[in-house]
Amino acid sequence: MSTAAITTAKEVFDLLRDDLVAIEQEFERLSLSDVDSITEIAGYLREGGGKRIRPALLLLAAKALGYAGSSSVRLGAVVEIIHTATLVHDDIIDVADIRRGRPSANIQWGNSKCVLAGDWLYMQAFRVALDERNFRILDLLISLTQQMVEGELLQMERMGTALTEHEYYELIYRKTACLFRVSMQLGCVLGGASQQMEDVLGDYGRSLGLAFQIVDDVLDLTASEEVLGKPTASDLREGKATLAVVHALHHGTPEERADIMAVIEDHNFERVGHHRILSILKRNGSLDYAMRAAYAHAESARKNLEVLPESEFKRALLWVPDFVVARDK
Ligand code: IPE
Ligand code: IPE
Ligand code: MG
Ligand code: MG
Repeated sequence: MSTAAITTAKEVFDLLRDDLVAIEQEFERLSLSDVDSITEIAGYLREGGGKRIRPALLLLAAKALGYAGSSSVRLGAVVEIIHTATLVHDDIIDVADIRRGRPSANIQWGNSKCVLAGDWLYMQAFRVALDERNFRILDLLISLTQQMVEGELLQMERMGTALTEHEYYELIYRKTACLFRVSMQLGCVLGGASQQMEDVLGDYGRSLGLAFQIVDDVLDLTASEEVLGKPTASDLREGKATLAVVHALHHGTPEERADIMAVIEDHNFERVGHHRILSILKRNGSLDYAMRAAYAHAESARKNLEVLPESEFKRALLWVPDFVVARDK
């Protein structure tokens, strides 16, 4: 076995290639319904691609613990299908018109059909999970789904307000990091890990997921729609304060605070432009602050891996936090 560090996405993909291909096939098979709208919408969502980071984590966790069975492919498809269901619902909630560089499903089929397709996908994922006949797996997936819904609702409740950093973290844990955590935990269940090992690797997923969402929120403020493949500056336009904005709200001048609040309360840039917000964030070092927080979470994720024996899968897990903080989409 090579001892060289894993440094590229391609190396990780090569390591997991056969399983990731099998997960795509499983996802495709599971996207078929007798009702055409469901097959069409589910097929469109699957073909849109995506990074497949959650199933990759599940595979890496299971393999790092020596698991070699086929349930990791089925559960990998389960976590990706749950992710897909949350995205289709999220784009309806956020009134988003682009996802993965293409018109989002709600634009193509309308909200009503997409709500139902999302529900169907959730249940399809649970049906497959049920086939494992393992209550621990169902327990993890049910509390995950409830937490994700709670995260979206918490976000709605705090919309248009200057939330605290603590509230921001509560929210992003539920809506994003929890699925990263559960993907790792499911890998642990398959790998027959002790509860202690599951907790530590679950913490890796949690920290990684927090870093992931913080970076996602920074990219929303700084990236271009062409690169990102989804709308930019959308959080402010939806009245959402994310970490950099929360920082500026608490460190800026009264005038700067008032300008940020104007955008968040209005849900548009009519009174105060996007450029003004970016210059406020830069003047207060708020984007750097958010990125430093992401780096810190990525680093604490990596520390959790000390419990794992050396393997190429562990090396891949060590690389993922770098990828998450350095990504541009
Ligand atoms: C998007 O997740 C939703 C968030 C948690 C920000 P990803 O960025 O993993 O989406 P895809 O699957 O790669 O498109
Ligand atoms: C991500 O939320 C969706 C979920 C985790 C449910 P966002 O609304 O912040 O993500 P994008 O920007 O649409 O991918
Ligand atoms: Mg969204
Ligand atoms: Mg959203």
